[in-house]
Amino acid sequence: MDNVALASLFRKEFEWCCVAAGESVAIVTEPASSPSYVAASLASLAGMGAQPFQVMLPLTLRTDDIAVVAQGSGASTILADFPHVVELLGKCGLVIDLTLEGLVHSPETKTVLAGGARMLWIREPADALARLLPTAERVGRIDRSVELLRSAKEMIVTSKAGTRLRANLEGALLTGSRGFCAERGRWAHWGQGLAAAYVASLDVDGEIVLDIGDIVFPFNRYVDGRTTLRFREGFVEAIEGEGLDAALIRDYMARWNDRNAYGISHVGWGLHERGLWHALSLYGSVAMGLDGRVFEGNFLFSTGPNHAAGRQSGCHFDIPMRNCSIFLDGTPVVIDGVIVEPSIRRAGA
Ligand SMILES: [Fe+2]
Repeated sequence: MDNVALASLFRKEFEWCCVAAGESVAIVTEPASSPSYVAASLASLAGMGAQPFQVMLPLTLRTDDIAVVAQGSGASTILADFPHVVELLGKCGLVIDLTLEGLVHSPETKTVLAGGARMLWIREPADALARLLPTAERVGRIDRSVELLRSAKEMIVTSKAGTRLRANLEGALLTGSRGFCAERGRWAHWGQGLAAAYVASLDVDGEIVLDIGDIVFPFNRYVDGRTTLRFREGFVEAIEGEGLDAALIRDYMARWNDRNAYGISHVGWGLHERGLWHALSLYGSVAMGLDGRVFEGNFLFSTGPNHAAGRQSGCHFDIPMRNCSIFLDGTPVVIDGVIVEPSIRRAGA
């Protein structure tokens, strides 16, 4: 994509973020950040009358991370040694995160958001950014999905592969990920489109059976053999399966030496009609994998960090599954991977 086209694409996203004339916008980068994304951000923001500036921070390899390869955890450490920069970012109107690892789960992000700044992570390839831009119609379905979760006490998930999970949603923290941030203190990732509940309760039991084609992030890997995760009282107590998937998940989780790694985090469903299940097979690790996380009708669940339950962890799995059925208080929302709830079903789908 040429620079002019890229700047024009970025402007569309920044308009969704309600960037205002005179607004201070920090672009957080590291040496490996995309130079064309920096240029497109600067050009489009300046064209909107905002006051963008770039912050370049060194990527320091930390010796205390040797137990795991933590790529894909979304917890970049580039701000860890720069409290004065964190303070500055919190005073900006918008902070654009162009780091590869992402700051979403970094402790400094809480401080930046608490300062009033909103944050936008831009990470996917340019064609995916264009394809996954927000639409008003989708925002409506995401917001209505959050309302469905808000009025529900319990989620049950089943699948023909053998999944049978029950999660108590009382006290859950609900999020509608719309792919842009327009309000103070909000965080977004360009390309998102899903609804999720961070489960607060320990009343979560049953089995999740990963089937061929489900995706395990951060491995950026499609499952190729059935793998069972058994949950008891909110935690994974066993990971079973003969294939590589089970072995990898078991090893990675255990290496963190962290009980919280096994806790349930969020449960929800994908709502992005332009998210493509197959995209990961072509993008590989070039993408962070939003397509796989947001494609319409998936059941996305996660383990590890969970603010609603008061659990922190560096070990964070996002696992979108196909062909699942999701029920809220007994009412079907998704059947075999297809959204059936009328209030969030797309016209013509
Ligand atoms: Fe997650």
